[in-house]
Amino acid sequence: PLKQDLKGRRAIVTSGPTHEPIDPVRYIANRSSGKQGHAIAAALAARGAEVTLVTGPVTLPDPPGVRTVHVEAARDMFSACFLDLPVDIFVAAAAVADWRVAVEAPQKLKKSGDLPPVLKLAENPDILRAISTTDAKRRPALVVGFAAETENVVAHAQKKLSSKGCDWILANDVSEGTQTFGGDSNAVHLVTANAVEDWPRMSKTEVAARLAERIAAAFNEDTTK
Ligand code: C5P
Repeated sequence: PLKQDLKGRRAIVTSGPTHEPIDPVRYIANRSSGKQGHAIAAALAARGAEVTLVTGPVTLPDPPGVRTVHVEAARDMFSACFLDLPVDIFVAAAAVADWRVAVEAPQKLKKSGDLPPVLKLAENPDILRAISTTDAKRRPALVVGFAAETENVVAHAQKKLSSKGCDWILANDVSEGTQTFGGDSNAVHLVTANAVEDWPRMSKTEVAARLAERIAAAFNEDTTK
């Protein structure tokens, strides 16, 4: 049994991909499995935190002991997160689609015999940045983002830390052959404002447990995060 050192803390974790509708039967998506985000939600709950998991469409079961909110598109994920504030901890593990189709077709698009349709895209809201930069009254004390990079992993993560305004970035190498997407293991670096920890490759469950432990330490042991 783990120490209940996150008892009384509230957390939101985003997980999974988002589905951006094209028409009533089609969507744009990505290959995120939700494994890492779901594991983090479960790991925070296991230490006593009150967790809301906001997840896009995944094939995973809802983690026990976690309030799970199911959403489809990035804009729904954005609203669900803001609705659940205030929290102490926000972890953005979802692979949010950067773009949506600007105007969802109300009816199924048909082959017309002419040219194929051209999809006009619009940028989705950046949930991590919005949460990180929201007013001080609502901003979670600790905001953790992810960075999936294929090169210069740590340098890009450090840049992302300041561009998003979050406190920590878990950076992982998703270059070909690493099998991070959909796989069961992850090799990450925990990047904070003034330090970088290189974690050995471990299962996504172990990454989640270690992150939850670090989060509990940040709240309980010191004030420097
Ligand atoms: O900018 P990029 O997509 O590389 O940043 C990844 C981080 O930002 C992840 O933590 C992801 O969950 C979060 N993100 C988000 N909303 C978006 C795009 C990314 O919360 N629209």
